[in-house]
Amino acid sequence: MEVIVLGSAAGGGFPQWNCNAPTSKAAREGAGGAQQRTQASIAVSADGENWLLVNASPDLRQQLLQNRAFWPRQGLRDSPIKAVLLTSAEIDHVAGLLSMRESQPFRLWATSSVLGILAENPIFGALAPDYVERSAFPLGDPIKIAGASGDLGLVIEAFPVPGKVPLFLESRHVGDLAGGVEDTIGLEIRSGAARFHFIPGCARLTPALRERLRGSPLIFFDGTLWSDTELVDLGISAKTGARMGHMSISGADGTMAAFEGLAIGRKVFIHVNTTNPVLDEASLEHAATVAAGWEVAQDGMRISL
Ligand code: MLT
Ligand code: MN
Repeated sequence: MEVIVLGSAAGGGFPQWNCNAPTSKAAREGAGGAQQRTQASIAVSADGENWLLVNASPDLRQQLLQNRAFWPRQGLRDSPIKAVLLTSAEIDHVAGLLSMRESQPFRLWATSSVLGILAENPIFGALAPDYVERSAFPLGDPIKIAGASGDLGLVIEAFPVPGKVPLFLESRHVGDLAGGVEDTIGLEIRSGAARFHFIPGCARLTPALRERLRGSPLIFFDGTLWSDTELVDLGISAKTGARMGHMSISGADGTMAAFEGLAIGRKVFIHVNTTNPVLDEASLEHAATVAAGWEVAQDGMRISL
């Protein structure tokens, strides 16, 4: 099984268009170890030819152009991407669907809750049903992922993770932003004996989630913020990580501490926010994540399992 990281930054990318925090400034100016990143998405393939896209970021077009594996190969219209699967309905996970509207067959997989949010937004009607079949999957059962032209040789098991309703729907859920079990999910993706976990957004590592992830050969996990008060401390926003539905990397309740003792083969932070100091490879925070056995995903990173 092959995994390609198309994008590794959180919503808005790195640097975000209007962010002038030190990390964003350094990335914009090409200074030192702060490498620019597009919004989080991965592609997975069992055969190296046919790909499942996991989340369609607003940067999709640029991401596909930068990776030869996703260029058309035959005929006048073609794409190696045979299916798309969504882990939430956040803008940074779904907006790329709008760039996939050029009469190209593929299968769109998501929970019924996420498909419901797309269905009530007429702009996604640009993905005509003649070409794009939408398939809901349940949580907790292994699902064989079919693409436009048959089985992709990938099996996914989706599970709920603590999260939040999409930012653009918060006004509908005032008082309870956590959302339902189908709104934010994690994935185990398997091909034969190879497997890994993908959880780009997670508000808390519950005991059940810890046990599910124990011994995983590879995990991509929510690396949005370094600290819960990062945006508050920078004076950028009053929102904490908890309010945004993201646990933070550092601290006693943070991700590095929560993953201790889980015997995970390879741990990679993805969906990293434009303010997060781990994005600067020369920072103490980056050194601390590496010392704790974590990597920070970069666009174009490729992993064979
Ligand atoms: C998030 O992960 O919290 C969202 O993508 C926020 C956003 O849409 O800006
Ligand atoms: Mn996001």
